[in-house]
Amino acid sequence: MTDADARAPVVPDADGLDATEREEAIRRARSLAGLRRAAASCRACDLWARATQTVFGEGSESARLMLLGEQPGDQEDRQGAPFVGPAGRILNEALDAAGIDRSLVYVTNVVKHFKWRRAPRGKRRIHQRPDRAEEEACRPWLEAEVARIGPELIICLGATAAQALLGRSFRVTRQRGQALPTELGPPALATIHPSAVLRAPDDAAREAAFDGLVADLRTAVRSLD
Ligand code: URA
Repeated sequence: MTDADARAPVVPDADGLDATEREEAIRRARSLAGLRRAAASCRACDLWARATQTVFGEGSESARLMLLGEQPGDQEDRQGAPFVGPAGRILNEALDAAGIDRSLVYVTNVVKHFKWRRAPRGKRRIHQRPDRAEEEACRPWLEAEVARIGPELIICLGATAAQALLGRSFRVTRQRGQALPTELGPPALATIHPSAVLRAPDDAAREAAFDGLVADLRTAVRSLD
C-alpha cells in the first residue's frame, strides 16, 4: 500500500459483523431496513476497510424487477446509494427509453463495498473487480434482499452479476436477453453493464451499446406480462 492509500479512506469502526455474526443478523432482521442497518457494519471480507460505507440496495420493496450490478463505484461509495454515478446516469436513460420507472424497481449490487486502487498519478480511485471470495462473502446479503423483495426477474448488468447468478461459464455476449433459472429463486436475464456504453470507442459504438441495453430491458419487461 502506498502512503497515499494509507491516508485515503474513511475507515469505519473495526468492531463490525464477522461472517458468523452476519448470518445471525440476517436471520434476525425483520425488514429490509433492518437488513440495511445490519449490512452497514459487515466485515465478512476486507473490502469495508478501504470503502467509505456499505452501499446496500435501494428501491421499491414490492419491485417485480431487481437490477443487479457488480459493486458500487466511486460516487456510489461516497453517496451511499447504487448507480448514482456516471453508469447510473446511463442506466437511468436506458430505463426511461425502455419505459421502466426506476422508482418501481429495486437496484443492488453483487458486492456492497467499493473495491479500488489508487491511480498511479493523482487522486483518482480506480475500480477493481471483486474476487470470488469477496462475492461469496456478500452473497448472503443478496440472498436476503431477493427473499425480502421477491422479484419476478433479476436483470444482471454486466458479466460479474451474470456470472454470480448464472454460472462462471456464462457469457453476456452470447447469452444476453434470455431469462434463465437461478438458485436464488427468480430467473435472471443478463445484459451489458451501463459502463460499457461509457467505454465505447466512438459515437456509433456508443449508440449501438445503448440500444442493445434498452432492447434487453424491453425484453425483460415483456417477460413479466
Ligand atoms: N457500477 C455498478 O456495478 N454498480 C453501481 O452501483 C455503480 C456502478
